[in-house]
Amino acid sequence: MSDTPSKSATDHSIVYQPSALVRARARITDWDATNAAADAAPLKFWEERAAELGWFRNWDQTLDDSNKPFFKWFVGGVCNIVHNAIDRHQVTYRKNKLAYIWQGEDGTERFMSYGELHREVSLFANVLKGLGVVKGDRVTIYMGRVIELPIAMLACAKIGAIHSVVYGGFSDAALRGRIIDSNSKVLVTCDGAFVSGKHIDLKEICDRALISDPPCPVTDVVVYKRTGRAVTMYDSEGRHDHWWHELMAKASPVCATEQMGSEDPLFILYTSGSTGKPKALLHTHGGYSVYTYTTFRYVFDIQDDDRFWCAADPGWITGHSYIVYAPLMNGATSVMYEGGPSYPAPDRWWSIVAKYGVTILYTAPTAIRGLMRFGAAHPAKHDLSSLRLLGSVGEPINPEAWKWFYENIGGSRCPIMDTWWQTETGGFMITPTPVVPLKPGSGTRPFFTIKAEIVDETGAPVPAEGEGFLTILNSWPGMARTIYGDPDRYKETYWSRFPGRYFTGDSARMDADGYYWIIGRVDDVLKVSGYRFGTAEIESALVSHPAVAEAAVIGLPHEVRGNAIYGYVLLRSGVMASPELAEELRNHVARMVGPIAKPERVEIVDKLPKTRSGKIMRRLLKSRAQGLPEGDISTLEE
Ligand code: WTA
Repeated sequence: MSDTPSKSATDHSIVYQPSALVRARARITDWDATNAAADAAPLKFWEERAAELGWFRNWDQTLDDSNKPFFKWFVGGVCNIVHNAIDRHQVTYRKNKLAYIWQGEDGTERFMSYGELHREVSLFANVLKGLGVVKGDRVTIYMGRVIELPIAMLACAKIGAIHSVVYGGFSDAALRGRIIDSNSKVLVTCDGAFVSGKHIDLKEICDRALISDPPCPVTDVVVYKRTGRAVTMYDSEGRHDHWWHELMAKASPVCATEQMGSEDPLFILYTSGSTGKPKALLHTHGGYSVYTYTTFRYVFDIQDDDRFWCAADPGWITGHSYIVYAPLMNGATSVMYEGGPSYPAPDRWWSIVAKYGVTILYTAPTAIRGLMRFGAAHPAKHDLSSLRLLGSVGEPINPEAWKWFYENIGGSRCPIMDTWWQTETGGFMITPTPVVPLKPGSGTRPFFTIKAEIVDETGAPVPAEGEGFLTILNSWPGMARTIYGDPDRYKETYWSRFPGRYFTGDSARMDADGYYWIIGRVDDVLKVSGYRFGTAEIESALVSHPAVAEAAVIGLPHEVRGNAIYGYVLLRSGVMASPELAEELRNHVARMVGPIAKPERVEIVDKLPKTRSGKIMRRLLKSRAQGLPEGDISTLEE
């Protein structure tokens, strides 16, 4: 294996059994029986789940696998995810149920019912129509964590437009690249956002992204006023800025939900891979609805009296699937928090859990480790007894963080749903449900109907306890359908390494009980604080600096962030190395990609280790940096 991480020190024998209380409440009481039935008739399993949702027209064919790997689900069906997320609740008691409870970092509170959400989404759908957006058009959304972000997404979906949400931590250059690649005519943003006591100038970043040379496709910018900080509103030929509230005041609250084919695109979402250029994964109305609805329902066992808090950002797949679409399709009440976890004090999150009676908290190991550092006294100050389930996503959770989360947040009574999945998979793939016995650090077993297999370099299955590449053998409704505008790259990236299988890019191990243990990425992707970056993306940011001739980027273990980015650069001839330049290069990456990608360290070197064929040996850089044995260096140039 190319870049194999070291074996983790996890103990496979520790098992946490679900309590009688957890069992009594669970929707799936007999996991094995449900799994066996789903395995025996996977299409039937998904047909039954799909039938729990509303369709304008039923599908003719559940799965079309005639053109692999371009699978189609619920072919011939006509639907719209917004019909299931919002419209159908309007004729039930859920119309007056809260969809979102929102907490601003500055203490502002908002409560939005399904009825109000319906009205806001309809209004904004008409605003988009008024700006000339039609079915199939792309709309880029670059906002802080406000309810208007889901509203903008849902409004796009309602009229059949394709949303492309760009996380608010990305730089103007990254935003611009994604706007151009998706050819979006409309950009929705905020004046700013409050995060960890700072004001993020979102509108200003947009203004820098939209400079006209070379031309940018955006003609209209809609600005939601969140912070009230002064911004410049442009109105020139080819570029019009509008205030969200002004357009909303003039819009009609009546808007029909567009009838979409199951396979019609719902959204694209950019993620990092092994090349410098982020790719846009495309998800559809039909299959994605069924998959996210079901995984959420079974894994978080959502009930009407729950208050669910997914602490991720809506700008990532976790937020798309489990802040916006799945909770709404299930008629759940979600808590959304605008700001940083430890602002103004390290107990901010715990105070939110107590204040709103959160019953399910879904977050990332990096956040848990970050909050763990402040000590257990902070959660102990608050009544966290409303919690009944916890969740983790984004990277492997180390046993120490698992234990801390389980004991100090969950009061040793809340099972932790460790959900392994990806932007590409749309929803949970390897995950327990509440009744499944847990082993800290393992996502347990594949979700119903999912067939995972660990293989070696040749594609041969690896026996239990052996480490290898994690692959998926079958198709599932929530899988991404393609890379937007580049089907060949989709096939090449995911379906060519092991023909006939989906290659996840992760390495893993399965133990004797059939439990999966994710080890980490084996491609050139890094998970830093749960965020996903390509080493090539950071390298191309470094070489875009005039002083840099060549760059290599690696990830090194970091106590809180999981991985930290380290850059090694060769300077152009004549450029003098200095600590100031190294610092300038770190800032340059932050400017090019975003502050979240700022390297921990950039080291100026005289030489980069290369193979005789000229490939940089990142593995060698990594072992040298960690003081580990250099391994096989027979291909080293000299
Ligand atoms: C990693 C995030 C271990 C993994 C939803 C995967 C995890 C990548 C887990 C996808 C988990 C995600 N345990 N590793 N529970 N969840 N990962 O696209 O390496 O941002 O391939 O999707 O995150 O990252 P992405």
